[in-house]
Amino acid sequence: MTFPKIIVTGGLGYIGSHTCVELIHSGYEVIIADNLSNADISVLDGIHSITGIKPRFIQVDLSDSDSTLTFFNGFKDIAGIIHFAAFKAVGKSVQFPLKYYKNNVGSMINIVYNMLELGISNLIFSSSCTVYGQPDQLPVSESSPIQAAWSPYGNTKQICEEILNDVCSSQNRFNGIALRYFNPIGAHESALIGELPLGTPNNLMPFITQTAIGLRSELKVFGSDYNTPDGTAIRDYLHVVDLAKAHVTALERLLKKENTSNNEFYNLGTGKGSSVLEVIQSFEKTSGTSLNYVMAERRPGDVEAVYADTTKAKEILGWETELSLDDMTRSAWKWEQALKARS
Ligand code: UFG
Repeated sequence: MTFPKIIVTGGLGYIGSHTCVELIHSGYEVIIADNLSNADISVLDGIHSITGIKPRFIQVDLSDSDSTLTFFNGFKDIAGIIHFAAFKAVGKSVQFPLKYYKNNVGSMINIVYNMLELGISNLIFSSSCTVYGQPDQLPVSESSPIQAAWSPYGNTKQICEEILNDVCSSQNRFNGIALRYFNPIGAHESALIGELPLGTPNNLMPFITQTAIGLRSELKVFGSDYNTPDGTAIRDYLHVVDLAKAHVTALERLLKKENTSNNEFYNLGTGKGSSVLEVIQSFEKTSGTSLNYVMAERRPGDVEAVYADTTKAKEILGWETELSLDDMTRSAWKWEQALKARS
């Protein structure tokens, strides 16, 4: 029996690796393309241990057009591509904008170009709620206006969505779905894969777990004077395993030709906003530890509150989250402890 072949770019990264696991569980043959710039090859063993299958892995820089061409020429019968490979540090993107445009936009162009050449017609693109900036209305639905990007990173997501939109408009046979993630956190329940931040984490959840395990001395809560119930900023945190499953659902929508437009986009979140303090409280409860944190200045560029209107994902995509904030913080802590045990 042959299984549909799916290329996952950035498949050894945080969301990519969890998605590879869900794809394999659903019967797909996964081919991982990753340049290992922000991922560790050991993740492949994690995927293998969870699923019993070691996907084929190819180290390739997809922002390089010749390497991308060579990579694609090695394959036939690809049913679809899930494109995660991208740089994602907002602050670094401000410092090194060209690096971000070259990598994130360049790889998108190279991938879509080769897909068109080879007649591969289904693409799931990893986008972000950052495209909405600080929305005028909450929860934020897909009809909310796209705001001018606050960072080169955010701009690369907007530009890639525009590229997808333009290619879909010009090519009826090309199908794209952009998935706009809110804030994925947590790890696989096996604690065999999870987030592996390079250096000091920028994001809240890995900073919390690294503080609790003793790698960082304290967590700074960026801003306690926001116009929110407890003064700290609000985000829509969703479990990375729920998010991974959404990719399989979106892919199957394209493979079964159930999409009503050849360019669709969905918000992926829980629909519920949680403050930084609520995340800390959940973490303290599920880990049984007391976190060392202090209130600090707002982080430049942060929005006050953003959470998703999940109606479209529920009604059209048929996807919704199943796991709670406590599941997220519990699994993130289990993963951090597993990492410590490994080292
Ligand atoms: N925070 C802290 N202390 C920290 C780290 C974060 O208080 O050490 C706060 C932030 O100020 C923010 C919240 O925790 O209020 C969440 O911050 P993250 O950095 O985890 O997530 P962001 O919402 O800032 O960023 C995420 C993704 C980006 C994406 C953005 C879209 O990481 O890639 O959502 O809004 F662009």
